[in-house]
Amino acid sequence: MACQRMTKCHCHNVEFSTVAQYAQNTGIQEPDVLCERVGLGQTCTACRCDLADFLKEQRQVSVSAPSRGIPALKPSKAIA
Ligand code: FES
Repeated sequence: MACQRMTKCHCHNVEFSTVAQYAQNTGIQEPDVLCERVGLGQTCTACRCDLADFLKEQRQVSVSAPSRGIPALKPSKAIA
């Protein structure tokens, strides 16, 4: 049986998505700083590793996601 990763800090009842939104709004990337500022990961600390992974994945998604509202460029035919 595989273990499921945490999606929130259970001790402080804070969803990781809330932390990701705070990181995006403030530009803070360091998980330890985010934990302190948002107020999670300070009790049993069991969530910290999964939070770091979650934030890393969120950054990869936001970097690789296409921009909204801007159509993708299509390759044009060669000009003769
Ligand atoms: S689950 Fe986050 S500090 Fe305990």
